Amino acid sequence: MKTIIMDMTKKIDPEQIARAGEILRAGGLVAFPTETVYGLGGDGLNPAASEKIYAAKGRPSDNPLIIHIAALADMEKIVAGIPSDARKLAEAFWPGPLTMILQKSSLVPLQTTGGLQTVAIRYPSHPVAQALIAAGGGYIAAPSANLSGRPSPTSASHVIADLNGRIDAIIDGGDGNIGLESTIIDLTEEEPVILRPGYVSLEMAREVLGEVRMDPGLLKEDPTIRPKAPGMKYRHYAPRADLIIVQGERQQVTGTICDLCQKALAQEKKVGIIASDETMDAYLDLAQGDTQEIHVRSAGQRADEQSIARHLYALLREFDTLQVDVIYSEAFDTPQMGQAIMNRLIKAAGHQILNV
Ligand code: TXA
Ligand code: MG
Repeated sequence: MKTIIMDMTKKIDPEQIARAGEILRAGGLVAFPTETVYGLGGDGLNPAASEKIYAAKGRPSDNPLIIHIAALADMEKIVAGIPSDARKLAEAFWPGPLTMILQKSSLVPLQTTGGLQTVAIRYPSHPVAQALIAAGGGYIAAPSANLSGRPSPTSASHVIADLNGRIDAIIDGGDGNIGLESTIIDLTEEEPVILRPGYVSLEMAREVLGEVRMDPGLLKEDPTIRPKAPGMKYRHYAPRADLIIVQGERQQVTGTICDLCQKALAQEKKVGIIASDETMDAYLDLAQGDTQEIHVRSAGQRADEQSIARHLYALLREFDTLQVDVIYSEAFDTPQMGQAIMNRLIKAAGHQILNV
């Protein structure tokens, strides 16, 4: 299949949006930018389109998709009822990086929800996403536009690397978005539960709803406690290299990473380091040796957590391309998005954390 690439980095092109909308209405697949990460869109009310999404990504079909809408009123048709908490969250955070889980209506096919009676809904704020959703019929199922097991795409080049030739079209909307997937909040139980942390933090959700808890499956190392969002149980976001997080006081962290690097280099391993602007200097001596074998990258300024979130997945992809054997990463327990950043990093590391 030849994938059409549509350039909307400068402005929305209404003709191309109409064309992409037709592709979606006909059951085809279009990748598009959102304010979090790129999504792989298909008509969420068309079971065949959802099946195509799973096939294109190589994703297990028990892992449900999020339906994206472009008008608040459109939510009514796909849910069994709208609880008052949903209205409060919509008012506070929509359009934006928040997904709500509600009981589905009969209009939503089980192929889209991975067999569940609940549906995930998000109203994104990105103007290209909104235009495309409206043009495509209003209900666009969209997982992140990566091959299953790779980090979510934060630029069109990542989508092209993973899905070129497998889908009908890719809309390039540029980079510079949040860089981590939306916060998912489940409203189908007695108390609201965060199933996936994101830009909207637990504290922000509590300010609106009062009681909110984190899914215990997210916090525990115990493998018998399963996260409720089916997708959170997979080892997503996995780089090809071994990833080890080093956590603790700043100088201890940089010192430990330097020691670990020396050891890895002595074993003729190719090493990547995820540092921050504030700590880059600590690794200068290392990189002066055999620069072929060590790659130090800053995720951004610690003081600017949005920059860390925005760069994380691109760095993991870059280290894949460089074919490093092992990655040492600093921890990023930042105030608002720290939970989300660390959740993704810990999953990528397969829970290898060194406390120093
Ligand atoms: O920011 C985002 O949410 C991006 C952009 C494209 O909107 N989308 C995204 O979709 O991250 P995806 O499919 O990569 O992740 C969706 C997550 C999965 O972990 C899935 O298991 C969970 O949402 N999910 C979807 N429907 C669910 C449901 N009914 N109950 C529980 N979890 C659900
Ligand atoms: Mg995903």
